[in-house]
Order: sequence, then structure tokens, then C-alpha cells
Amino acid sequence: MRCRCLLLTVVTDCQTNKSFLCPTMSLLASALVGLTGLSLNYFVPKFMSPGSGPSQFAVSSASGLASSCDATNIASCTNTTAIGNLCCFEAPGGLLLQTQFWDSNPATGPSDSWTIHGLWPDKCDLKFSENCDPSRAYKNIAGLLSENGAAKTLDFMKTYWVDINGKDETFWEHEWKTHGTCMSTLEPSCLPAGSAKGTEAVAFFDTVVKLFQTLPTYKWLANQGITPSSSATYTLDTLSTALQTESGFQPVLDCEGSTLDSVSWYFHLKGSVIDGTFVQIDTPEEGNCPSDGIKYPPKSDDGESEPNKKMPSRHARRRHHHK
Ligand SMILES: *[C@@H]1O[C@H](CO)[C@@H](O)[C@H](O)[C@H]1NC(C)=O
Repeated sequence: MRCRCLLLTVVTDCQTNKSFLCPTMSLLASALVGLTGLSLNYFVPKFMSPGSGPSQFAVSSASGLASSCDATNIASCTNTTAIGNLCCFEAPGGLLLQTQFWDSNPATGPSDSWTIHGLWPDKCDLKFSENCDPSRAYKNIAGLLSENGAAKTLDFMKTYWVDINGKDETFWEHEWKTHGTCMSTLEPSCLPAGSAKGTEAVAFFDTVVKLFQTLPTYKWLANQGITPSSSATYTLDTLSTALQTESGFQPVLDCEGSTLDSVSWYFHLKGSVIDGTFVQIDTPEEGNCPSDGIKYPPKSDDGESEPNKKMPSRHARRRHHHK
């Protein structure tokens, strides 16, 4: 059977029988967005059936940028022969981690949501590269986004992608420079001819925000009866099982001492970071939380239970790999 892509339709991937967003729709919707300034956030469906993976999230660019990649492209890290065109195949960083923070002391972000740390292109063997192109270490990410049709993304970032020291702009610049510049599908040579400088970074932030919106860690834990508490402790297994039950996949949990402060959700990518499909997978590695006695404290600055400990600078933080 041949699957066809029609305008404004969701189609089924012949190989996996999972639905995905028709790339034609992405193109059309991007054009509409370009014309009207509307955000695509509400048009991007989420295809997720808890416990019955794999889940796939199709992203599309709010800034009107579109790749020319085929949505049936093979997922990163699943190829058996070398792929030549890395504009539509993320490599070598084909293992993508959407990392989130739970910053409770000092607190950042809404009290009922985790916040964005970033999107990291790890290699398939869990090694990784960073700072791949200093010539594209853009400054003024806020300006770049607002001038390129991504004001809505910027707005969201101001609430959900926040720095522990209030230096949001520096944090965004760091995440782009350190991780975004290592993404092969965001190389400027992959963009449509005549794209403005920095367009690929706009696509990066759009995509990270959209992917994060499909990963409501706080809500998933709350659905399983796990809400922040200054007295309760949990086993790693309880927390992991709760998230597995809700999302269908196993993330990595990381701790600062015995306090939960990070979660990473893992994906392979079909197509481009600009508008490809994120195929969720179970984590291939372990986190650093202890097996029990884990705290998930409320976000408050009252310092009642613990003295205000100095957190390491966010810009230096990178989860330890355990393999
Ligand atoms: C998958 O493709 C990448 C990029 O061409 C290549 O480096 C890698 O060796 C390929 N993997 C396999 C198993 O062939």
C-alpha cells in the first residue's frame, strides 16, 4: 500500500502504522502562518497513546521555514548503511534528548510545570559533541525570534525556558551555541536559498518549545498521584513507573544529591529538526538519582526545609553520562 499525503490531512506511516503530520500540511500551514502571523502551536497534533509506543511528534516551523525533507525519511540512529544527505538525517547527533529542569531551590518557572533545559543531539553511542560552529554563536536570541515570526515562541520561553539566575538570554544563547550548532539538519546550507542569517536558530527554538509542550512531566507525575512535597520521598522505581505509565516511555531522572531536579526524554528524528518527526524511545542510559529516598520538593523560596544551597551555574551543568 502506498500512503499519500493530501492537503490538511494526517496520514498513516506505512511502515509503522502510526499517524504523522502530512509534510504538505506543514508547508501550507507555514505559508499561512507567514501570511497571518498565527502560531501553529494549536494546529500541531500530538500522536501519543500511553503505553503503546512508539509515539511520534511532528513539528512544524512557526517562522514559516520548511525543510524539503520527506516525512518517510529513516529515523536517525536506525540506519544500517551510511546516509549521505545529512540535511534530512540528523547525524552524528541522532539521539535527541529533550531535557527539563525541576528547580525548587531557588525556584524558577511556574510551580506546576517543569522548565526547559534544552534539546541535545547526542551521538547514537551516547557520546556527544558541543560548540560545533562558533561562527554561529548568535547573540540576542530574543531579537532574532521576535524579528523572524517567532514572538509566540519567545513569549513561551520567557515563562518556561528560564535561567536559575535570571539570565534567560545568556542561557538561550548558550543552549543554541553549545547544542544547536551541532545539529546537521540545521546547517545553513540545508536551508532554502536566501534564508536570513540565524533562521536555523529560530527553527531550533520553535522546535524545542513544541517538543516540550508534548512532554508535560509535572502533569504526568500528578496524574499518578505524585505532586511536590516537602516531606514525601519516593523510590526511583515509583517515579520511573509513573512516567512510563503516563508517557509510554522511560525517561532518565537526575538528582542533585537526593533531590530530583532533571528529566530527559529521548528521541530519534525522522527528517529535519526544522519540521521532522520525533520518534520517542526509552532511554538507553541511566540517571544519577539514588534508588530511594528521592525528594520532589515544591517550588518555593521559603527555605523552610533546607538552607538555600548554591546551585552550580546552569551554564556549566551537563548531566553525567553513565556508560
Ligand atoms: C548511519 O549514517 C551515518 C551518516 O552517514 C553514518 O555515519 C553511520 O555510520 C551510519 N550507520 C550505519 C550503521 O551504517
